[in-house]
Amino acid sequence: MNKSFSVVLALFFLAQLVSAQSMSNQEMEKKIDEILNQLTLREKVDLCHAQSKFSTAGVARLGIPEIWMSDGPHGVRGEINWNDWGYAGWTNDSITAFPALTALAASFNPELSYEYGFALGEEARYREKDILLGPGVNIYRTPYNGRNFEYMGEDPYLASIMVVPYIKGVQKNGVAACVKHYALNNQEHDRHVIDVKADDRTLHEIYLPAFKAAVQQGGVWSLMGAYNQYNGQFATHNKVLMNDILKGDWNFDGVVVSDWGSTHSTMEAALNGLDIEMGTFTNGLTFSMNFPYHDYNLANPFYEKIKSGEIPESVVNDKARRILRLMLRTNMNPNRPLGRMNNQEHSDVARKVATEGIVLLKNENNFFPLKETKGLTIAVIGENATKPMTIGGGSSELKAKYEISPLAGIQNRFADATILHAMGYSSGPSAYGRVIESPLNQDSLFQNAVETAAKADIVLFVGGLNKNFQQDCEGGDRISYDLPFNQNKLLKAVLEVNSSVGVVLVSGNAVAMPWLKDVNAVMQAWYLGSEAGNAIADVISGDVNPSGKLPFSFPININDNAAHSFGEESYPGVNKTQEYKEGILVGYRWFDTKKIKPQFSFGFGLSYTTFAYSNMQTDKKAYGKDDEVKVSFTLTNTGNVAGAEIAQLYVSDPKSSVMRPVKELKGFDKVMLQPGESKEVSITVPVSSFAYYAVDSKSWVVEPGDFILQVNSSATDNQLKKKIKVN
Ligand code: GLC
Repeated sequence: MNKSFSVVLALFFLAQLVSAQSMSNQEMEKKIDEILNQLTLREKVDLCHAQSKFSTAGVARLGIPEIWMSDGPHGVRGEINWNDWGYAGWTNDSITAFPALTALAASFNPELSYEYGFALGEEARYREKDILLGPGVNIYRTPYNGRNFEYMGEDPYLASIMVVPYIKGVQKNGVAACVKHYALNNQEHDRHVIDVKADDRTLHEIYLPAFKAAVQQGGVWSLMGAYNQYNGQFATHNKVLMNDILKGDWNFDGVVVSDWGSTHSTMEAALNGLDIEMGTFTNGLTFSMNFPYHDYNLANPFYEKIKSGEIPESVVNDKARRILRLMLRTNMNPNRPLGRMNNQEHSDVARKVATEGIVLLKNENNFFPLKETKGLTIAVIGENATKPMTIGGGSSELKAKYEISPLAGIQNRFADATILHAMGYSSGPSAYGRVIESPLNQDSLFQNAVETAAKADIVLFVGGLNKNFQQDCEGGDRISYDLPFNQNKLLKAVLEVNSSVGVVLVSGNAVAMPWLKDVNAVMQAWYLGSEAGNAIADVISGDVNPSGKLPFSFPININDNAAHSFGEESYPGVNKTQEYKEGILVGYRWFDTKKIKPQFSFGFGLSYTTFAYSNMQTDKKAYGKDDEVKVSFTLTNTGNVAGAEIAQLYVSDPKSSVMRPVKELKGFDKVMLQPGESKEVSITVPVSSFAYYAVDSKSWVVEPGDFILQVNSSATDNQLKKKIKVN
């Protein structure tokens, strides 16, 4: 494309964006009133439930459009049939697969999160979707949760910071984001029914903050109710979650959408804040019963109860008002941009998120980056070197326009080396709700891999989990903390014939690493989407210096994990009920308090260079409750390659009237430094963020006294600290 044309094109899109100003609030409310007054009761009710798998009816006679929704958090899902979970077989719905949100969270880069959301929103817009069913921000409570790969880790502050720009980016395209799954959907086991008991403080300090940020800072236009129950009432129409907190305290003005099959009562759905009922009579993934859509809770039964006066018409008016507001922000906004799909910019964003999200966990003998590879023989061992990871995993699965495998990426980048490959094991095809054994002979795969490794100068073991059922997959949890498919045994055998081994884990969850001391290097490579292989090769080669840090802890043993320390009642639950007995002590909060050493801690990640921290200052010694604390320090790149460091600010309240975690993340900054360069870094945190949630007064309390501010390179690596006083 010649330069001038591309300038014209860019200006055209810029004009689109500038003119996409949605109407002012009062104009919008006036317009809503005008429309509402023209709608019949039936038309208002029909706005509140599905007409197909992923759409709701408009009002044809008035030209009010249907609302079309699509998964998912990492890309726009392939078109699904009108009335079953099968794919429609379209030929225009292949898209850019972006990295999983664990990778985005691991980048600790809010600006990049905006770019991610914007690019994804452009693709959703181009695919003519009005609601994109993501992001997911459920907190990482157990390494067994099948859907952790879709979420943003164990810390509410990190998830709260990273979710906001993603939502703004998506919605800049006139597409509604739909933050999910609200709330306490932290496992897949028994997800449709399990009744979660969590105390108020735990709810407010750990499980709600990311949703609150999505609403109050992100301005999210829709939110998805979760399948599980909370304190005996289904989350999707839970009075406390939906009326008291979301629409009451947080003043949410958007639309609550159910999860697919998460609605169980007309009265509760009507009165407890559900606005659009989707997917009833289905399990949200594979099967549907053939009830017609007018049998939905918010269809005929709702209509009849309003007609009879049992439910006041004001109830449906509020739902219709919210839905029309979402329409005026999306498919009834005449100025919204046109969207774009499968272009170089989107591929570049996908690759950038992937490379910034990769976490280097171990790197002895400078194993990585691989230099002077000319004439070297590199054995790439493991099924994850070639297994497509954009399919499977559940509703977040994608029909990617392309997906560069780790093997292809390595072959492209190290063309001067001899690259061997052996699968080593075969996991079988991905299927939902069941495991299908592979027909291949595992022994011969194993043997072949060992022989291949023996011939090589170095081995790259590309293993991990995958998107099969009981791995990183919706609808079920993992059943073991170990690497599956005999990988530990294979890795051991490979190490016996070749001591130069680097492990690349393609996964979305922590795993046991009995082989850790025996390998030279470990890289956490997440599910990285279309650009996976290129990003992995970028980092392995040193073209990109890794800067990602873990968004969740890796326990050494599964029973070191908080949720797994309190028996079955805590995880996976007994008789469809479970209790979050660890309370607020999730993740590093647990490891700190119980003095348990994790395998790798939250916020940990190595670089090809090193950094030094010095000279921590605070702008004052004592602060009032409404003050902001300005923390500054000097960060120096003490190595010989450029790199980015994620400096983390944790706060401790050493003397408090309530039990508090040893420390909590309250700030971070990602700083790029040239070799030898020093920068003054400053992180500003409001004193109000030092508060704990007081259950009795239902309020956030900052107790006067000393607080300790710690500048860390990870949850377990303190670099600098300073005491301040709060009056
Ligand atoms: C699924 C998932 C949800 C998804 C929806 C539509 O069951 O729980 O995340 O957006 O149904 O596929």
